[in-house]
Amino acid sequence: MNAPTRRVDAHDKVTGTVRYGADLTSPNLAHAVFAVSTVGKGRVVNIDTAAAEAVPGVLMVLTRVDASELGSPGFVMGGGYGFQSLQPLLDDRIAYRGQPIALVVADTLIAATEAANLVRADYEVEPIAVGLDAEAAETLVQQEAIPLPFLADIVMGDADAAFAESPVRIEATYDLPQQHQVPMELIGGVVGWRGETLVVHEGTQNAGALRGGLARQLGLDPARIEIISPYTGGGFGQKNSLQPHVGPLALAARRLGRPIKFVMPRTQTFHQASFRPASRHRVRLGADETGRLLAAVHEVDQQTSRHDLFPAIYTEITSRLYGIEHFRGRQRLIRTDVQTPGFMRAPFEHPAAFAFESAVDEVAYALGQDPVALRLANDADVDPVTGQPFSSRHLAECLRRGADMFGWAGRTPEPGSMRGADGTQVGWGVASGAYPASVAPAVARLSAAADGKVTVGVDGHEMGQGIRTAIVRLVSEDLSIAAEDVIVYVGDTRVAPQHLTAGSWGTATALQAVHAALRDLRKRLDVADSDPVDVEAAVAATGQAAVDVEATTVAPGQPPEIIEQSRAGLVAFAGPVYPGFTAFSFIAHFAEVRIEPTTRRIRVPRVVSVVDCGRVASPVTAVSQVRGAVVWGIGGALRERSEVDPRYGGFANATMEEYPIPVNADIGEVEVGFVDEPDPLLNPVGVKGLGEVSMVGVAAAIANAVFHATGRRHRRLPIRIEDVL
Ligand code: MOS
Repeated sequence: MNAPTRRVDAHDKVTGTVRYGADLTSPNLAHAVFAVSTVGKGRVVNIDTAAAEAVPGVLMVLTRVDASELGSPGFVMGGGYGFQSLQPLLDDRIAYRGQPIALVVADTLIAATEAANLVRADYEVEPIAVGLDAEAAETLVQQEAIPLPFLADIVMGDADAAFAESPVRIEATYDLPQQHQVPMELIGGVVGWRGETLVVHEGTQNAGALRGGLARQLGLDPARIEIISPYTGGGFGQKNSLQPHVGPLALAARRLGRPIKFVMPRTQTFHQASFRPASRHRVRLGADETGRLLAAVHEVDQQTSRHDLFPAIYTEITSRLYGIEHFRGRQRLIRTDVQTPGFMRAPFEHPAAFAFESAVDEVAYALGQDPVALRLANDADVDPVTGQPFSSRHLAECLRRGADMFGWAGRTPEPGSMRGADGTQVGWGVASGAYPASVAPAVARLSAAADGKVTVGVDGHEMGQGIRTAIVRLVSEDLSIAAEDVIVYVGDTRVAPQHLTAGSWGTATALQAVHAALRDLRKRLDVADSDPVDVEAAVAATGQAAVDVEATTVAPGQPPEIIEQSRAGLVAFAGPVYPGFTAFSFIAHFAEVRIEPTTRRIRVPRVVSVVDCGRVASPVTAVSQVRGAVVWGIGGALRERSEVDPRYGGFANATMEEYPIPVNADIGEVEVGFVDEPDPLLNPVGVKGLGEVSMVGVAAAIANAVFHATGRRHRRLPIRIEDVL
């Protein structure tokens, strides 16, 4: 009743009241810019900083840092904190084009930029391998390269034999490109010292990793590091770990005795932060004449860097989308000369679903069956991998309701059979998606004051997804107080330990901890869980100015040491392991494409997406999240590819002009439906996860619609005008 129906920070965001990391200013602020390598691989043999140092206002040109002053943060997926293990400025090696070779600090941004452009280096150049097919690339089998149980191959039955014996067989290879997250807020912030305490203001998804990583790099006590990140202007996986500028900035700020602002230029974010690696998927699907899927083989090659092993976790969802008895999933890594790739919204699930759901569509056409009916007929009753039940699974409901909302019954099945009045080719496509539902360990602190206001400090980061709104809703509903009386601190290591907000576990994690803290608060206020509470009166009755509680919630199957590591910002590798069930969110997407007869431009006038994400914690931000994800899917299907020139390395289209993402004019109607059934097993708030599942399958639905419009199957993304000429 008191719960906000709007985004609680909407007004502050649109009026510019919200302060992002780099918005902070101070009278003695200095500015820093990286100078970067112009070669793709090799060694710096000489570096000339004289011209840079001569620029008026330049305070420092840092070309080399001693390892005793600044260590590697370690790779976030290898027990460390950094987006990669490589910390620039520690030696003369160049691992990829765009790697920083000097940090220039000056009184003004203009002086720092001018000076950075004047840093000259001579290199010894080595041959580079930048793509999956490059001659010097190195192939590793993931299972042997990264011996972690959850990365193992998935094998059920004998998929190769069952495929060979299947009456209907589809075998195809699907290619997905490198892509970059390009969040609106650039990477960066302000780094300074308050006495012996290092204070970092920066937009991040993982303030804990910044703290833990800087402690490791600088040999500092984490208690002397504060990370303050109340708002992140889009993370999408790019801001899930420590970036390479923060350590050098901390050193420079200490030497200069001044806080330093650093904002990574857009071009540099293409080279100094993670990206979605290229992946290639060989899919084999066998079915009988009735359309029952008998066997699936899903083999993936995925790019990684020379210096880190970024895992490939594609078959986790494709093995569970349908009830297929015989399945074999295998994943390999290809080492290339790039910065370490990383997570980008639905990092594995978006490419995996494009490949697998295209192949399922190919089976439907091969059999002359309706693609929705074929999917419904192959729905899984239990988790095919473990034989355990799903905590909840409403994929069939998503497909049925989506088909209704879309008007799927009006589709004529024959490819090329639907036309607009002007000759526009019209195609309708469908695809399913899934994403693991997870929760992380978390701490929530609540303080109920005698004036009736409740302050919440909790693990979580607000990156636009609406976590603050979901927390305010929970607290205001539970305590029957106005939304304005709930004050939320997230992304702040001063108020609660901060763990990675990613993997679509952020809302479930924060809400579960806040829910537990609310139970404690009610106990302290002597109010039963089911009774209404008058916070002001109840706090006054205690005779105290405020009542403070703290609750810790942990994910099942996570041992204490993992919880401690997680609180320090490390990614928890053990668990969650749910007792007796498997938990995934599910989605069905329906897309209409129209291909204009003369320009051959592919338009997506409407998409219908129906999601099973458990309970919808905050309807208004949830709808926005799905719409945003569909826009991402349209970008993935029709626009986005980071272009590589094998002669030079790096990424050629490293600006927003040349890395096209969908704009408003590209987006038509996006209709969103929710099953909105609380998950009964996963957590007390019934929330599964929404951020990533929302885009899983969008690209496949669009590619399937393009096939329906044209009769041509596109197995490589993005699909552009030249592909449909
Ligand atoms: Mo997300 S790619 O797990 O930040």
